[in-house]
Amino acid sequence: MAGGDSERGRLVALNYGCGACHVIPGVRGAVSWAGPPLMEWSRRGYLAGHLPNSPENLVAWLQNPQAISPGSAMPNLGLTETEARDAAAYLFTLGAERLPPVPAGIPLGPDQAGQREEPRIRPRA
Ligand code: HEC
Repeated sequence: MAGGDSERGRLVALNYGCGACHVIPGVRGAVSWAGPPLMEWSRRGYLAGHLPNSPENLVAWLQNPQAISPGSAMPNLGLTETEARDAAAYLFTLGAERLPPVPAGIPLGPDQAGQREEPRIRPRA
C-alpha cells in the first residue's frame, strides 16, 4: 500500500497518540470517540467527508489535515511522509482481513458492502 510498512505504521499510531481521539483496532489504548472510529478503515469510501479514501489521499491527510479540512478538530501532528505512509498502510489493513477494500469514493448501500462483522464498540487489542 503506497510504499508503507504497516507494522511500523501501527507504532506510528501508538507513538503519536492517535488513540487519544480515535478507536483503532490493534493499537493499545486507542479507544477514544473524540474523533471518528477508524475500524474497518479499508472499507471506508470517503476520508474526512470529502476526499475519496485512497491511500494517497490518506497520506496527505495525515501530514496536513488542516490544509484539507481547515479548522478541523484533528491537529497537524507533524508526521513525516514516511510516517504517514506507514500509518496509512496500517489503517488500510483494517477491515481488509477477509474482504476486499471498497474502491475509493464509491458509496455503497448497506446491502452492497458484502458480509461484515458486527460493529464493535472497542477494539480487540
Ligand atoms: C486531538 C484529536 C485527534 C488526534 C490526536 C488525531 N485525530 Fe484523526 N481526527 C480527529 C478528528 C476530530 C477527525 C475528524 C476530522 C474531520 O473530518 O475534519 C479526525 C479524522 C481522522 C481521519 C479521517 C476519519 C474519517 O472518518 O474520515 C483519519 C484517517 C485520522 N483522523 C487518523 C488519525 C491518525 C492516524 C492520527 C495519529 C497520527 C490522528 N488521526 C490523530 C481527531 C484527532
